[in-house]
Amino acid sequence: MSQQIDHLMNEDRRFPPSEEFAANAVASPDLYKAASADRLGFWADQARSLLTWHTPFSEVLDWSNPPFAKWFADGELNVAYNCLDRHVEEGNGDRVAFHFEGEPGDTRTITYAELTEEVKRAANALSELGIGRGDRVAVYLPMIPEAVVSLLAVARLGAIHSVVFGGFSADSLRSRIDDAGAKLVITADGGYRKGRASALKPAVDQALSDRGDGVQATVENVLVVRRTGQDVDWSDERDLWWHDVVPQASADHTAEAFPAENPLFILYTSGTTGRPKGILHTSGGYLAQAAFTHRNVFDLHPESDVYWCTADIGWITGHSYAVYGPLANGATQVLYEGTPEHPEPGRWWDIIEKYGVTIFYTAPTAVRGFMKQGRQIPQKRDLSSIRLLGSVGEPINPEAWMWFREVIGGGKTPIVDTWWQTETGAIMISALPGITTAKPGSAQVPLPGIAIEVVDEKGEAVGNDAGGLLVATEPWPSMLRGIWGDPDRFVETYWRMFQDKGFYFAGDGARRDEDGDIWLLGRVDDVMNVSGHRLSTAEIESALVAHEATAEAAVVGASDETTGQAVVAFVILKESFLREHTPEGLAQALRAWVGEQIGPIARPRDVYIVGELPKTRSGKIMRRLLRDVAEGREVGDTTTLADTAVMSTISSQVK
Ligand code: WTA
Repeated sequence: MSQQIDHLMNEDRRFPPSEEFAANAVASPDLYKAASADRLGFWADQARSLLTWHTPFSEVLDWSNPPFAKWFADGELNVAYNCLDRHVEEGNGDRVAFHFEGEPGDTRTITYAELTEEVKRAANALSELGIGRGDRVAVYLPMIPEAVVSLLAVARLGAIHSVVFGGFSADSLRSRIDDAGAKLVITADGGYRKGRASALKPAVDQALSDRGDGVQATVENVLVVRRTGQDVDWSDERDLWWHDVVPQASADHTAEAFPAENPLFILYTSGTTGRPKGILHTSGGYLAQAAFTHRNVFDLHPESDVYWCTADIGWITGHSYAVYGPLANGATQVLYEGTPEHPEPGRWWDIIEKYGVTIFYTAPTAVRGFMKQGRQIPQKRDLSSIRLLGSVGEPINPEAWMWFREVIGGGKTPIVDTWWQTETGAIMISALPGITTAKPGSAQVPLPGIAIEVVDEKGEAVGNDAGGLLVATEPWPSMLRGIWGDPDRFVETYWRMFQDKGFYFAGDGARRDEDGDIWLLGRVDDVMNVSGHRLSTAEIESALVAHEATAEAAVVGASDETTGQAVVAFVILKESFLREHTPEGLAQALRAWVGEQIGPIARPRDVYIVGELPKTRSGKIMRRLLRDVAEGREVGDTTTLADTAVMSTISSQVK
């Protein structure tokens, strides 16, 4: 089967950086020159200039046993020292590390000196509990400062954290604890979500309870942060309150140096299909690329910027761009516990106004959610402090991109659309603000030092103006080092497809345009085949979102007697349009619209107007479930959905 993906849409809007932005930009075109002249030398320079090494490295990359890479292997460093102590030693202890905003409205301002002290105490408390180098610690917490403190304390000891998103069930938590063999769980009584205290500790108790299968959990202790004050069950021999052990611990703690390849964390990813994989990241290469990308892609001026990444710490974006990258760079951040709509839909904009956020990094799913509610909500706030916007997680449709720039960015800010994965550890493809002329909807160019190609099924580059499979052709510093406990699955999942070329296969479809810029087209598993044409979900969804009535759309291929597969669209309308039009009329109009915008081949056979779309907990649309609905099948496994009730609502709306 050909892996060529047909190209349907044209986007000719261009946004060069303003002169002022370009003049003050952190990144410079020299980065590209330096990286293409000597790629490994470039990464060595970044790792040396952005990080502090206890023992300098002499070797950059060891690729003698692919796909198992080692970066900076004979160097030694302490990740937490790089994120904390050195900023204090350099005289920046008074700089705010976090403006914390709890959902109920409680706040905390935490400087680098205070954060360093708290992490030292927590590290001492954890070592009292027997945690040391190589031990695994599961973290199951809301978005509160103790979550960041926990990660850094674990890192400081050379131990390995495994964050499990607070929205996951007891079963998911247990399977992750078992897989990693975690010795300690750090959790809270609960957290605040949508105006209510939502319990966490009972899920830990349930996860660790005897399941009647004779398998004992590996966990020895549970450390519990008091957040909501709700009642909890307690096991005297196992459970400890954070406030009983951390504040009492000594604030003296010397950061020990660990080898660059010491594991830093495991993060489980289920993606949109399949059994979770424990993605393993290590220290030096990960931190170097996280710091480099955070500084250059977000144009960080640490002394003046207020940076806010809205991702939960349970996802890779929260790890790399709310903890490690920004803290390594000494950034001032906002940390927010709750949801965008509590107590009312403008909460995020209130926070931006309150703290004067200058750099704002979020996901397309959030942007489209705001489009649905209407621009009058953000327009009531003063968002003029914002000077850079970032997007991650899914393709951002050109219309959502334009809305983001106009309504949130005041029509003037650059937007960086950043492509990367849990597996890549840090950003791989993105514009560099101040240098790149932006194109709405395109992630554009591989970062300096990153080798990306779009290839056919044989691994040959497709060239410009063609679509295919996205691969990384060379190893990169923050690449995953494996799947925890399963090297065969690591090789099989990511490297088998282009084994003879040694390429990493990301699972995404992509296209290069006439200029060679990269456009992400969605997961290749979701590509449709209509009358022999391979169509990507992303382009048809973009066409639907470009209609004035649409807020969000998901497209799937459903089997069809005449065309092989037919395009079936699920569409969420903007609230203002729902009031004034009938769903039937709009569905007709949307079919015709797609036909006009991109041609009859892409015209949906069916358009269903729905109230919600099935999404994973990190906001990605699960098209596999929509395919079940479109083909009239019973809906498959919904356990990874954020809201499992959504599918029955959609099924009944479709009927
Ligand atoms: C998708 C999130 C288009 C892609 C950092 C990738 C994107 C998967 C983009 C990884 C983007 C992420 N444009 N698609 N800018 N960023 N993706 O592991 O399909 O949660 O493979 O990491 O999200 O998701 P993950």
